[in-house]
Amino acid sequence: MAYKTLIVEIEDHVGLIRLNRPDALNALNSQLIGELAKCLTEMGANDKVRAIVVTGSDKAFAAGADIKEMSEKSFVDVFAGDMFTDDHDTIVRCRKPIIAAVAGYALGGGCELAMMCDFIIAADTAKFGQPEINLGVVAGLGGTQRLTRFVGKSKAMDMHLTGRFMDAEEAERSGLVSRVVPAKKLMDEAMDAARKIAEKSAISTMVVKEAVNRSYETTLTEGILFERRVFYSLFATEDQKEGMGAFLEKREPQFRDK
Ligand code: CAA
Repeated sequence: MAYKTLIVEIEDHVGLIRLNRPDALNALNSQLIGELAKCLTEMGANDKVRAIVVTGSDKAFAAGADIKEMSEKSFVDVFAGDMFTDDHDTIVRCRKPIIAAVAGYALGGGCELAMMCDFIIAADTAKFGQPEINLGVVAGLGGTQRLTRFVGKSKAMDMHLTGRFMDAEEAERSGLVSRVVPAKKLMDEAMDAARKIAEKSAISTMVVKEAVNRSYETTLTEGILFERRVFYSLFATEDQKEGMGAFLEKREPQFRDK
């Protein structure tokens, strides 16, 4: 499918989605967020895609939800229209691993979109923030919940209440991003990570995603029980025999997602 607000490529089993509204710093209007949800659904169903990278431009991953589009909306418009709900749910339902490769601004909905991905690799130019307070609103794509889980209450409160931006170094120190790299190396680093994931058994990567995400939704005891059940269940796969057999035979495994 052709997209107006995304540039999409598939290479080495990695789906690369580049947000592309350069005139608005990739602000998430309804078209972009809808196309992103569709694209992730399509990549989810495409056997050629085993891992996904979402990125923006050098200047902005995304500078938030589109303020122009939202500014005249009423409570009834956004409440009855259930703004963001379906697209948010579709994005987080994607079962394939998604890396956010963030350079420049990741603000408001942009920061929230990065957090919906499975992990964030940041360029040293990245700036994260939840500045919705300056617009007389609050985060609406999960920011009050996800940022708090990632960086803790004190820093999340600071970010949401003051609207200040966090640079890449602080974001790494706080646990929001997994690695920081020089801006020039961002895409190589993200694509390499995605290619590495694409080589694994897709059954295992889907299980990792489910199990780690479960840790945000449940108690430690329940989470460990869930982990043990899925760990045991992987012994029913051919890929477990292949992975362990390959280790013992000192060769690379050939996973078949079975
Ligand atoms: N929505 C719509 N347009 C946006 C935008 C946004 N979130 N962010 C930037 N733009 C547009 C600007 O209006 C401008 O367009 P024009 O050239 O037509 O005027 C263009 O992008 C370039 O932006 P600036 O001239 O402002 O660029 P800058 O380098 O001076 O500043 C910035 C960059 C600090 C990111 C600034 O653009 C900014 O503060 N943007 C808004 C950030 C924000 O408040 N995000 C939260 C949005 S609300 C939200 O996301 C709710 C939610 O949780 C779902």
